[in-house]
Amino acid sequence: MAEPSGILIKGGRVVNEDCSVISDVYIKNGKIVEVGPNLQIPAGVQVINATDKLVIPGGIDTHTHMELAFMGTRAVDDFHIGTKAALAGGTTMILDFVIPQKGKSLLQAYEVWRKTADAKVCCDYSLHVAVTWWSDEVKKEMETLAKEKGVNSFKMFMAYKDVFMLQDSELYAAFAQCKEIGAIAQVHAENGDLIAEGAKKMLSMGITGPEGHELCRPEEVEAEATQRAITIAHAVNCPLYVVHVMSKSAAKVVSNARRDGRVVFGEPIAAGLGTDGTNYWHKDWAHAAGFVMGPPLRPDPSTPGYLMDLLANDDLSLTGTDNCTFSVCQKALGKDDFTKIPNGVNGVEDRMSVIWERGVHSGKMDENRFVAVTSSNAAKIFNFYPQKGRIAKNSDADVVIWDPKMTRRISAKTHHQAVDYNIFEGMECHGVPIITISRGKVVYENKKLQVEPGHGRFIHREPFSEFVYKRIKQRDQVGRPTAVIRKPYEGKVLSV
Ligand code: URP
Ligand code: ZN
Ligand code: ZN
Ligand code: ZN
Repeated sequence: MAEPSGILIKGGRVVNEDCSVISDVYIKNGKIVEVGPNLQIPAGVQVINATDKLVIPGGIDTHTHMELAFMGTRAVDDFHIGTKAALAGGTTMILDFVIPQKGKSLLQAYEVWRKTADAKVCCDYSLHVAVTWWSDEVKKEMETLAKEKGVNSFKMFMAYKDVFMLQDSELYAAFAQCKEIGAIAQVHAENGDLIAEGAKKMLSMGITGPEGHELCRPEEVEAEATQRAITIAHAVNCPLYVVHVMSKSAAKVVSNARRDGRVVFGEPIAAGLGTDGTNYWHKDWAHAAGFVMGPPLRPDPSTPGYLMDLLANDDLSLTGTDNCTFSVCQKALGKDDFTKIPNGVNGVEDRMSVIWERGVHSGKMDENRFVAVTSSNAAKIFNFYPQKGRIAKNSDADVVIWDPKMTRRISAKTHHQAVDYNIFEGMECHGVPIITISRGKVVYENKKLQVEPGHGRFIHREPFSEFVYKRIKQRDQVGRPTAVIRKPYEGKVLSV
């Protein structure tokens, strides 16, 4: 049988970040062709009845590390399995990180990652690039990446001492270059020196288990670095994006900076919104180790709810997952020393449901804010809106039919990820993606995935995102300090 020429989604409630309306959506050749009531479409199209369902933009996960080589091993979710799992959870695009080793070319690392991902991705993707060392060459390569390679965001690490960490003067230089080329500076905000000292102290006290991971880097270690990054970014008038905001203290720093008028965005992740750091004290070592990531989840059990409140009120802006999965035997590399437990957790499949459950079902945010924090704001900040993050004519046909009433129970037994446990094990979530459409094709339906590796495409992102840079440019024009005009000093000068 010939492929139907297009898809008509009938009678659903179309939800964008600014409004919801009952409407039909007609999709053809990978694009949304028409949105409106009672669309009259020629015969031969596939019709999806979306009555009583929501029709939302596919989720955009701003933060993944598929198949990352890290801490002596490699993340088990590769670009194939990881993006398939994303689609099953209602996410139709990921932004992954190129992380070159210190001293290595950013461009070469980018090309390697493109080649790896292009062949395997089942949904669209884009790439942030990490700046792990500083030189004139790095500075030039950042420009090439922004002008020619579709990269408009660079991540700088303030942690992972001697591995990825930059000094403040290097952060200053990198942020200044981001500003020059119209990119967004992203930071992993934790004080790497304090973590190194804290880890030594815990080990010397005989604390070798996963609880040591949190104890050696308490909230203030994250909050201090967050404040420092904001200060440095402000000094060069560079927009700042704080990845994986994990604590109440760091979230407050971001929120206060926004109130002070800073152009700063905070990204909480599914893990931080859906679970907490009390798990590090679990008696079962494997359970506790499964939650080890940096910055750590926080033992204060009010943290997830607090982060969700800030996300609902725009103190925090959007969500990723930091999906970087290591199975139990990989985590066991650190069975006698928590500093050797590979850092990372799952989330790419469950983010949408976890945020619906804890955000919308709980009454903290409405369906429109849900769309804002799961897709539209990402597309705006990273400059591909309204190509994605919106259900509108001419937007990409990345669409999810969402059942807000249906529930599902998260489990490693049923998830599509390669990792052999799930940090949300047993959580019941309202809000289930029942159909996922990627690039105009139904790729997930009736709990079945039908998609081939390479179905996804790289999304090229231009610099100078207006959503981020309009204010920055105006401030440069009006905020320039000027010298005071004075008569020359004509008195005595000490002779030396
Ligand atoms: O624990 C984490 N976050 N692993 C991935 C690397 C990073 O810092 O994002
Ligand atoms: Zn990080
Ligand atoms: Zn990360
Ligand atoms: Zn519930």
